[in-house]
Amino acid sequence: MTRNNVNQTLTTRRTFLQNGAMSMALLALPQSAHHRPVVMARPVFDPNTLTPFVDALPIPKVARPTDSRPIPGNTKQKAPYYRMAMQQVETKVHRDMKPTRQWAVDSTVPGPTLEAQSGQGVLVEWANQLPKSHFLPIDHHLHGAEAEKPDVRTVIHLHGGRVPAAVDGYPEDWFIPGKSATYFYPNTQDAATLWYHDHTLGINRLNVYAGLLGLCIVRDSFESALNLPSGKYEIPLVLYDRFFDQDSQLYYPVSPVESKPWIPELFGNAILANGKLLPYLDVEPRKYRFRVLNGANGRFFHLSMSTNQTFQQIGTDQGLLPAPVTIRICSLAPGERADLILDFTDHAGEQIVLKNDMLAPVMLFRVSKAKVTDESTVPSTLRPVPKIAESEAVKTRSLMLGEINDLHGDSVTMLLNNSHWNMPVTENPTLDSVEIWNLINVTDDAHPIHLHMVRFQILDRRRFDAFAYQNENNLLRYRGNPIPPEPIEAGWKDTVRADPGMITRIITKFEGYPGRFVWHCHILEHEDNEMMRPYDVLPK
Ligand code: C2O
Ligand code: CU
Ligand code: CU
Repeated sequence: MTRNNVNQTLTTRRTFLQNGAMSMALLALPQSAHHRPVVMARPVFDPNTLTPFVDALPIPKVARPTDSRPIPGNTKQKAPYYRMAMQQVETKVHRDMKPTRQWAVDSTVPGPTLEAQSGQGVLVEWANQLPKSHFLPIDHHLHGAEAEKPDVRTVIHLHGGRVPAAVDGYPEDWFIPGKSATYFYPNTQDAATLWYHDHTLGINRLNVYAGLLGLCIVRDSFESALNLPSGKYEIPLVLYDRFFDQDSQLYYPVSPVESKPWIPELFGNAILANGKLLPYLDVEPRKYRFRVLNGANGRFFHLSMSTNQTFQQIGTDQGLLPAPVTIRICSLAPGERADLILDFTDHAGEQIVLKNDMLAPVMLFRVSKAKVTDESTVPSTLRPVPKIAESEAVKTRSLMLGEINDLHGDSVTMLLNNSHWNMPVTENPTLDSVEIWNLINVTDDAHPIHLHMVRFQILDRRRFDAFAYQNENNLLRYRGNPIPPEPIEAGWKDTVRADPGMITRIITKFEGYPGRFVWHCHILEHEDNEMMRPYDVLPK
């Protein structure tokens, strides 16, 4: 199967879910033979019954520091201090729906956007002011979510941030309501679209689903000098899918086994843009820059415009691409970001729908007829991304992405290299060394693999015989030639799609900080069920 075929399979499966899931009491995910069916314990709300495009797209507010305080380890130097409180709120996701209970950062979902300048550190106090009980189904059989643990726990990770281990939001560093953690983020990295989200062991999928996520934009002078669309022409766009019940409340499906509610994947029938269902955005006939995040638990997005017009992707997870890439469909796995330029210049007076999987509307652009002058530019070269030579690698690791039935045979555990979270650390690169990681995917799913702390480059993907690999003692039999990364992947990444039946090779220099970090699948249902491993960056 080629990569295109894989994408089509995903599209078809998700389209099926989109159209079929709403009224069914029992829905089997047509995913893989051993996946459990999913139970819709309550009737699910059908968002197709809503009047579309009646709410304006909310723009998450920019977080404001309350004061400036001394930074840890250097009391003479001060940094802006932000307090980000997580609390339960009731917000409307659509004009005609009742308020939805959500867990917000600073009262909105997504939370306020942290704006940072490269090299200028910030202090963020993440405060847990959530209630003491969870409103989503915790599975106490999952590691880290045992019944004796408090239900409500949180810890926030800055995804894509090059930060010391102590402030990385390690999944076991959670804290309970009434507590907080203050992290100093140094921001010594290139301009990029980062995001923050909950990372609590065993309940991460539920906490993010409840609403604990937001953007963090790092800027630098190199990027600012490019004169890209900015100010009100630069729009953050956080996308994720959800289910709602008939009372407009978030609904998270469960397995048929009451004591083990975990499900392997979730594809909601409602797609939200900046927390609204089917919003509109009034735009001028000119260029806009969109910072798009796939903040979904498990859905892959394939975004296109109803006009079928092309647009340009100028950046990926960790910042600008070497040059803009013209595309018609923007594909994003969970956790990935795309920096897009949409040009409405030739569309004055038009209404353009942003769609997912070719048909599902996400939002509407209402292009005004105003005569405007657009002084922004999109240079034909953006930011050089010097290739890391394979010869620099001191180590190549073979890391299998697999899944196994549990002892009872009724659920699946996703594993990295056949290892559970609690087993000793096996990945331990030395600070500043270069390594190649071969992500050997023997499953039927695409897994977006994310490494904390580092940015990496994709070398290639190559089809192989997964059966032989598993059954003949890791016999490596290739079934095709190496496929280079797509043009939109030719920049610095922190999350990579490891396609089924493929070996995806990435290369990275472990620059930054020594200490314990994690790497994991960014399908949060997988991550919560063992598809996450600690890794150590050893001091030199
Ligand atoms: Cu976006 Cu470890 O996560
Ligand atoms: Cu991360
Ligand atoms: Cu996965």
